[in-house]
Amino acid sequence: MSDIHAQLLARHRAVLPSWLALYYDEPIELVSGSGRRVTDAEGNTYLDFFGGILTTMTGYAVPEVVDAIREQAGKMLHTSTLYLIRPMIELAEQIASLSHIPGAKVFFGSSGTEANEAALLFATQARRSNQVLAVRNSYHGRSFAAMGITGIRGWSASSLSPLAISYVHHGDRSAGPFAGLSDEAYLQAIGADVREVIETTTAGDVACFITEPIQGVGGFLTPSDGFFKAIKNVLDDYGILFVSDEVQTGWGRTGEHFWAIEAHDVVPDMITFAKGLGNGLAIGGVVGRGELVDCVPANSISTFGGNPLAAAGALANLRYLLDHDLQGNARTQGARLHAGLTELVGKYAVVGEVRGKGLMAGLTLVEPATRVPSGAAAAMVLNEAKAHGLLIGKGGIAGNALRIAPPLSVTAEEVDQALEILAAAIDATDRSMASAAS
Ligand SMILES: Cc1ncc(COP(=O)(O)O)c(C=O)c1O
Repeated sequence: MSDIHAQLLARHRAVLPSWLALYYDEPIELVSGSGRRVTDAEGNTYLDFFGGILTTMTGYAVPEVVDAIREQAGKMLHTSTLYLIRPMIELAEQIASLSHIPGAKVFFGSSGTEANEAALLFATQARRSNQVLAVRNSYHGRSFAAMGITGIRGWSASSLSPLAISYVHHGDRSAGPFAGLSDEAYLQAIGADVREVIETTTAGDVACFITEPIQGVGGFLTPSDGFFKAIKNVLDDYGILFVSDEVQTGWGRTGEHFWAIEAHDVVPDMITFAKGLGNGLAIGGVVGRGELVDCVPANSISTFGGNPLAAAGALANLRYLLDHDLQGNARTQGARLHAGLTELVGKYAVVGEVRGKGLMAGLTLVEPATRVPSGAAAAMVLNEAKAHGLLIGKGGIAGNALRIAPPLSVTAEEVDQALEILAAAIDATDRSMASAAS
């Protein structure tokens, strides 16, 4: 390990929390970026197919976005929501219109956690209930309420919660109770299961159901299309609100839709968003039915939420995304990426399955002999890929799902190059696992 990174790592370990996990056997500092490429403190360049956890949405140093931020920074960074904020109002108008939620209003905070907190406040207040349905294997953030609705032990640091939560199944059909069912039987089974959860584990009058349409931290688990419609049909019988956490899935990343929940023919009552909107600026929020967003019975503000700098940058970023049809690009390049990943299944015993949609692609790693999920194999691929110039992520309860999610502006050449590096990394891992087993 170089002195530069080793010294910075020692300083990191001395003053930052032990639970703030770093990637790689030899962690790196990324100091600059352009397009889909980043450079570390030693001058090594990488293709970035994780984008700071699906946050660098349009790319690094996009001139239109950088100029807007620079211009706003030179004029006014912060005024507070006590004053009219033109870029925040314009951004809210755009997001309300893009949401397809009738009569939508928007509240801005600074993160995905804050977005989910706000949605939970609106739902519990509107329904006068603290009961919430969440999904197993989900991730929603790090506040007490967000940790409460998070269904992964490894990301739930405390059981303290203001909410009473029941967890429904995530709908994975590769294993568990829904494996082997026909499409129709699957949708019937999930509807029946949710009804039973409501009838047996709640005190009635549940406020809302909250879900990621494709699980992010959970390893890009992707329920079949229609899964959430089957759930929504049951929720409607009880008047339970539907919240779609699109912090990772929104803005066209899945290629086929602007919001991933649209694949399920569901118009949610609220959508939460963050990450990609600011391309790295701290902005998140909720868009929802006006009467829900309005229902808070006391003053409430987020000091930084939607401030002039974050809102102007987000507006330029969203404009760039729409003007360049990056959803269309996610569809085209996503298909190319998925085709390449699918070729790796069967070719390498260490590869399990392909997950996700568009430019939110997952690849699971397994023990070749037993097919048991292998976090060790995923860690090995991650390190190998970095050594060959590709940054990707990982997730899932066993840490065995590679998460491959480049900025939505990625090109065909970059996808091909990433696939080539990934194949080499998997080949090396496959050989290493085989020789360890023999
Ligand atoms: C789906 C989802 N919701 C919420 C969050 C929390 O966002 P933040 O880290 O900005 O608070 C995340 C973060 O990874 C996420 O993936």
